[in-house]
Amino acid sequence: MSGAGHSSPTILRVNGVAREVASPPERLLLDVLRGELRLTGTKRGCGIGVCGTCTVLVDGVPRLACRLPLGEIGEREVLTIEGLAGHDGTLHPIQQAFIDAGAIQCGFCTPAMVLRAKALLDRRPDPSREEIRRALGPVLCRCTGYHQIVAAVERAAHVLVRGKT
Ligand code: FES
Ligand code: FES
Repeated sequence: MSGAGHSSPTILRVNGVAREVASPPERLLLDVLRGELRLTGTKRGCGIGVCGTCTVLVDGVPRLACRLPLGEIGEREVLTIEGLAGHDGTLHPIQQAFIDAGAIQCGFCTPAMVLRAKALLDRRPDPSREEIRRALGPVLCRCTGYHQIVAAVERAAHVLVRGKT
């Protein structure tokens, strides 16, 4: 939704870069990401806070971009799926695990699932299957039946833990 009265640009920290955005503070982050910054990896499903496909991480915490006004973000760091792969294009181990486990079908839920998995594994490197299910629960997937997605996160956890030791 557009607003008026705020003409000065806002700095939005996204994927490690401070971006100047012209959108007013009341504009929803999802619209800023997709409409202004062309970061279309963040998906618009329901647009009303139900499906979870618009999930991004804000200071490492999953947030629904379709419910979050730009002005509430302030100095915090936004991570979208575009910020996960290495600069040379190497996929993040979680992304690779989703491919290896066959956890991607249409792919619409995948960015949100991957980011929720990242938030979980960053704080719980060796989660139980139940913890994984709970962490991913807010994101709806119409295709996979969730089994392969949970398996992908387990696989990513093993890779990441092994990589650290
Ligand atoms: S698009 Fe945000 S929860 Fe569905
Ligand atoms: S892979 Fe299609 S919605 Fe999850």
